[in-house]
This record gives sequence, C-alpha cells and structure tokens, in this order.
Amino acid sequence: LLPPPVSRAELLKGVAGAHGLLCLLSDKIDTEVLDAAGPNLKVISTLSVGFDHMAMDEIKKRGVRVGYTPDVLTDATAELTVALLLATARRLPEGVVEVINGGWSTWKPLWLCGYGLSGSTVGVIGLGRIGMAIARRLKPFGVKKLLYSGRTDKSYAAEVEGEYVPLDTLVSESDFVVVSCALTPDTQGLCNKQFFCKMKNTAVFINTSRGAVVNQEDLYRALSSGQIACAGLDVTTPEPLPTDHPLLTLKNCVVLPHIGSATYSTRGIMAELSANNLLAGLQGTDMPSELKF
Ligand code: NDP
Ligand code: DGY
Repeated sequence: LLPPPVSRAELLKGVAGAHGLLCLLSDKIDTEVLDAAGPNLKVISTLSVGFDHMAMDEIKKRGVRVGYTPDVLTDATAELTVALLLATARRLPEGVVEVINGGWSTWKPLWLCGYGLSGSTVGVIGLGRIGMAIARRLKPFGVKKLLYSGRTDKSYAAEVEGEYVPLDTLVSESDFVVVSCALTPDTQGLCNKQFFCKMKNTAVFINTSRGAVVNQEDLYRALSSGQIACAGLDVTTPEPLPTDHPLLTLKNCVVLPHIGSATYSTRGIMAELSANNLLAGLQGTDMPSELKF
C-alpha cells in the first residue's frame, strides 16, 4: 500500500529549497507553497491533466516549468463518464439497494424506470480531449443529435456529427448534459440556478470535470424540486463531500469519489509520465508533456 498524500504542513516544510515538485490535484500550489519552495524551484509536475489547483500566473512569473498528464487518461475518464451517465439515467445504485434491502417485491411495469440514450440529444460542454472521447462513445448508443459548446468551434467534431451551439441552446435542448470543460474563472459556477432552470424536467446532468463548475446549492434545489430528472457527479466541492451533505440524501443524485482516471493501467502511465516530466524539468530538457501557458 502507498502512504497517504502529504498534508499541507508536510508539503510546506518538505518543499523548502526543492528544485522540483511532483504534486497531486489535491495539493493547492499557491504563493505560500512557491514562497516556501524558494528560488531553486525549476519544475512542478502534476499527476493530473487539470491544473486549476495551481496559481499559474505566479508560477509563470517565477519562470517555473509545469508538466501535466493529458491524453493518457482520456479513455479511462470518458469510459467512467459513460458508466456514470448510464448508472444515473437508469438508476443502477437505487436498483442495487432495493435488491439488498428487500424492496424488490415483484416485476412492476413502472418501477425504477429511467431515461435511455436511444434517439436522444446529448450536449457536451467542453468538447476537448475528454469531451470528444465521451461523444465518440455515446454516439453508438443511438444518440440522434450531438450538441457541444465551448469557446471555439471544432473541426474534429464532424466525426461525431457534433453541432456547435450557444450554451443556452445546448442546455435547453439536451436530454443529457455532460460537463467536461476545464475549470477556469469563466466556467466556475457555470451550472447555476439559471442554467438548471433552462434544462428539461426529464434531463440528466453529468459532471466529470471539476466540482466548482457547479453551484451545488442550485443543483440540490433543481434535483429536489423536480426541475431536472437526475444528476451524476464524479467531482464535488469540497472533496471529499461531507457524508451529511444534502446532495447525498437524494435518490436522484449519484456521487462518485473522483475516480475518472482510476484504472490500474492509466494511473501507472500517469505516474510514469509525471515522473519523466519532473526529470526532464530538472535536467532542463524537453518534457514529454509540458504545459504551455
Ligand atoms: P482539454 O483542454 O482537452 O479540454 C478542455 C475543454 O474545456 C476545451 O474543449 C475547452 O473548450 C473547454 N472550455 C474551456 N473554457 C470553456 C468555457 N468557458 N466554456 C465551455 N468550455 C470551455 O482538457 P481534457 O479534455 O483533457 O480535460 C478536461 C477536464 O477534465 C480537466 O481540466 C479536468 O478538470 C477534468 N478531468 C477530470 C477527471 C476526473 O477524474 N473526473 C479526469 C481527467 C480530467 P475550447 O477549446 O473551446 O476552449
Ligand atoms: C485530472 O487528471 O485532472 C483528474 O481529475 C484526475 O485524473
């Protein structure tokens, strides 16, 4: 078994004078950490593709290089997103609980009915590496229309017959809304009351990007009032989500513990890539995956 990740106090102490830092997405790399490291620091390598946990402006100012892990986790994360979407829309966790607790009395025509992908409209917010991999996997389920939104139109969307639309159109027309964008100042709190109010009452909401893209109080209200049908979240604010959080009281909300990239092989490849990024940064050579910012 691996030891648990270092605490903030251990990080601040251990980083002093370091030339390189290998961090996790749960390590907030802010001015305090950079100051604690001091002027020797040449490279930060994060075991993640997301880099919203790092103060990029401050890092840039100090001339520190950054390595990350794009591409190698795309398939695993897209696969988990599809699994979460199906589990949420077809109410798998509820069904499993009913079998265990004796709620399964007999076959009933309308018991545990959910929503299917066949003939549906799917909207992907952020058709990047992972968004596109999700779209590729969902299309063969018989999705009729694939909408996407983001900052720019993507020529590669043609492969999934993706239609670039304004966010409002995506939100109001989709049966499944899938969030796979990066967390930035523009996307923070993007999925809020106004957003959920535009969704169909029968729509399914899935987020595997970052918790902070969603206003969780607004999501709770949308789910508990029947404004939207159900939600599946792999990411929350905070992480871990406290066990007494209101979202966990809802049958129509499926919450996973940030396991998008968690396959043995993917995590192994991410570890190797982040170690090689770190070594290249220390040696001053080309990194296998350097973040250009
Ligand atoms: P990419 O950079 O390939 O894609 C990010 C997408 O975000 C781009 O398509 C971009 O669209 C979009 N985006 C940026 N700003 C906005 C905006 N204002 N509105 C809508 N879309 C926007 O990254 P990946 O696909 O590799 O990863 C995406 C994210 O997934 C990561 O940043 C991370 O947070 C999360 N992730 C979660 C995992 C998990 O375990 N749940 C695992 C791996 C990643 P455009 O190009 O048009 O700007
Ligand atoms: C990432 O890489 O950003 C994920 O959240 C974890 O793999």
